[in-house]
Amino acid sequence: MKIKIANVVGARPNFMKIAPIVDEMKKHHDIEPILVHTGQHYDQVMSKLFFDDLGLPKPDIYLGVGSGGHGTQTGKVMMEFERVMLEHKPDVVVVVGDVNSTIACSLVAVKLGIRVAHVEAGLRSYDRTMPEEINRMLTDQISDYLFTTERLAHQNLQREGVDLAKVFFTGNVMIDTLLQHRESAENSPILHDLAVAPKQYGLVTLHRPSNVDHKENLAKILDALTTVQQRLPLIFPVHPRTRKMLQVFGLEEKVQQAANLKLTDPLGYLDFLKLMTHAKLVLTDSGGIQEETTVLGIPCITMRENTERPITVEVGTNIVIGNAPDRIVEESFRILAGHGKKGTLPELWDGHAAERIVRVLREKELSR
Ligand code: UD1
Repeated sequence: MKIKIANVVGARPNFMKIAPIVDEMKKHHDIEPILVHTGQHYDQVMSKLFFDDLGLPKPDIYLGVGSGGHGTQTGKVMMEFERVMLEHKPDVVVVVGDVNSTIACSLVAVKLGIRVAHVEAGLRSYDRTMPEEINRMLTDQISDYLFTTERLAHQNLQREGVDLAKVFFTGNVMIDTLLQHRESAENSPILHDLAVAPKQYGLVTLHRPSNVDHKENLAKILDALTTVQQRLPLIFPVHPRTRKMLQVFGLEEKVQQAANLKLTDPLGYLDFLKLMTHAKLVLTDSGGIQEETTVLGIPCITMRENTERPITVEVGTNIVIGNAPDRIVEESFRILAGHGKKGTLPELWDGHAAERIVRVLREKELSR
């Protein structure tokens, strides 16, 4: 008997999470993994580049859903995914993270009686204005296997009435991928290409709707970056959402006036990993980057009001400061003055999370 498992990816932060899981599944003759890409992200730079960098197999199934409002995007994924599930009839669907594809595919699977495994379960920002928070809560409610990256997640889940017998503390698959590619990322020529030297630049990412979809917020953050770049050159790979909003709000000129704020297209996994590894500091509103900088020991300033990943603040290099320009500048300068957090490694972020996840899935499924 083979356990048939459909592994779902949709958006950029999913690719590095699913890669080690699919790799691990392939080592077991009694597991038949298939890879489904919903196409929530579809650009060369948001999708294909990651498949190449991570050595991910070509998706077995591509749904080609594309962009759209939340309802449209989620609905389209559901319609297409249901068709594929009825045809392929897997035993388990594995979803990762908190994007719209995560909840859409979970919801389809559970209603077809297919067991759902959620990787990165139990994280909570307690901020319901974040679309990801809704996706996380709902996915956890309907999952049969919940795999967590930090212990606080178990308390969050218990509070929401989730049976803890379904919850497994297995570590962080995104860190499996980081550790696996750390060495090869060193071969990337990106520092040379961007004409920056190790520890002499900062790295910026920005794409949360709360930061980039409001002109005033985006302008204020750009003001802060303009001040910081006078002392430290900043590299800023721009997410398509942010690129669009810079145009819509007419803020491109503001950016051009800051000579040491270098905008680039979104980068591939290896180039970005190398840039993080050698940065003096990272300014971000991403979820995953808070975790990656903690493992790399690079000070991270999170420009959000909250984080669903508190372990990065508790033991890691992360500080969460909101988006007030004064704070952004003050904390950047503190790090430049040598006061960045050093941090230690969170428990089980050791490169073996995928092994643990697949072990649980295999044992439980085989004993059914
Ligand atoms: C999505 C996720 C977010 C994640 C982020 C990482 C949800 C609700 N949000 O947000 O959690 O942190 O991905 O990137 O699932 N676009 C392109 N090319 C692409 C994809 C998008 O140009 O390949 C543009 C489109 O104009 C689109 C916009 O970017 O409208 C936003 O894309 P969307 O998938 O809606 O959300 P993200 O902001 O990327």
